[in-house]
Amino acid sequence: MQNQEPLGCSKDHQEIIDKLTKIARTDAEVLITGPSGVGKELFARFVHANSHRNPWPFIPVNCGTLTGELMENELFGHIAGAFTGARPSCDGLVCAAESGTLFLDEVDTLSITCQVKLLRFLQDKQYRRLGENRLRQANVRIIAATNTDLETAVEQNLFRKDLFFRLRVAPVQIPALHHRMEDLSLLIDNFTEKSASSYGLSKISFSDGALERMQNYSWPGNIRELENCVNFLTCLQLGRPVEANDLPLLNGVKTATETFDTNKSETSSFNSAKSNLITYFEQQYLTNALKRTNGNVSAAARLSEKDRRAFLELLHKHAINPAHYRNGAPASKDEFHQKKDIS
Ligand SMILES: Nc1ncnc2c1ncn2[C@@H]1O[C@H](COP(=O)(O)OP(=O)(O)OP(=O)(O)O)[C@@H](O)[C@H]1O
Ligand SMILES: [Mg+2]
Repeated sequence: MQNQEPLGCSKDHQEIIDKLTKIARTDAEVLITGPSGVGKELFARFVHANSHRNPWPFIPVNCGTLTGELMENELFGHIAGAFTGARPSCDGLVCAAESGTLFLDEVDTLSITCQVKLLRFLQDKQYRRLGENRLRQANVRIIAATNTDLETAVEQNLFRKDLFFRLRVAPVQIPALHHRMEDLSLLIDNFTEKSASSYGLSKISFSDGALERMQNYSWPGNIRELENCVNFLTCLQLGRPVEANDLPLLNGVKTATETFDTNKSETSSFNSAKSNLITYFEQQYLTNALKRTNGNVSAAARLSEKDRRAFLELLHKHAINPAHYRNGAPASKDEFHQKKDIS
């Protein structure tokens, strides 16, 4: 992953690369948002690699692991004897990233207390190691990433507004793979090559049917899912082109066209053909309503003149994720998976 350049040929991809290349030349804080597996960390590494800081380290920090006292210890380090058991001194991640980039991943997972501490640090980049009075000056660039909608988190008082704006100097949204399927072939070619060479196995190929299935699939796990899929199939070494049925795709995520096949419907029973047609209609209707409302479930339910709860039930029935219709915006956490609240 370290040396991988983000690949893509879609307009969306090119716009992101152009934007990040310009931002990389500055020291501006970058906030990268997008659903899981779209390449947020890869793009953060791209910014670092294209900045004047590239001779120095890129240090990723998973904010979910920073809690309470531990946060200051992890970020700022401590001197020997700062607390029970703290015998040798420890530098901390801010010091490790000196002159380079500190990547705050999953920044939404910080507790409010930790957000306050982070904000204080970001204001002048000064910090103290635990147990030490001396104030140190850090020289680090901050890039943060999240797969949640931070704006909503701010509205719900789960994320501090001042920190949100401190981090969001240069906002960059990475769209779901589903929204930039022009990138698919390039990614498949690259992953088949990479997978074969890293496992020392033969490069796999795909039948037209398999490629079509991949084009029609919604890739809820985005590029990570695609990469895993290719790795898995490389390991299998089928000795023939991969067929659609070999693909380890999620069952519930069939496309409407797959569900309703006119040729098949002519040969199946009346009831089964009717049921297929209803499924096809429901999927088409729901996705169109979501497309028209930019993935907003409440608005889509209103437009359909359906109760919001009933509309959500239908989305679950067809495994349709509204986040995929939000112009690449990250899923608000996590309307789609709150099945328990619905029933
Ligand atoms: N444009 C791309 N070109 C090549 N590989 C990519 C691209 N985007 C993502 N990948 C690969 O997909 C995988 C997931 O990327 P990454 O970890 O950066 O995603 P993420 O958005 O940070 O996901 P999460 O939110 O789950 O942490 C990595 O192995 C990465 O190398
Ligand atoms: Mg990540």
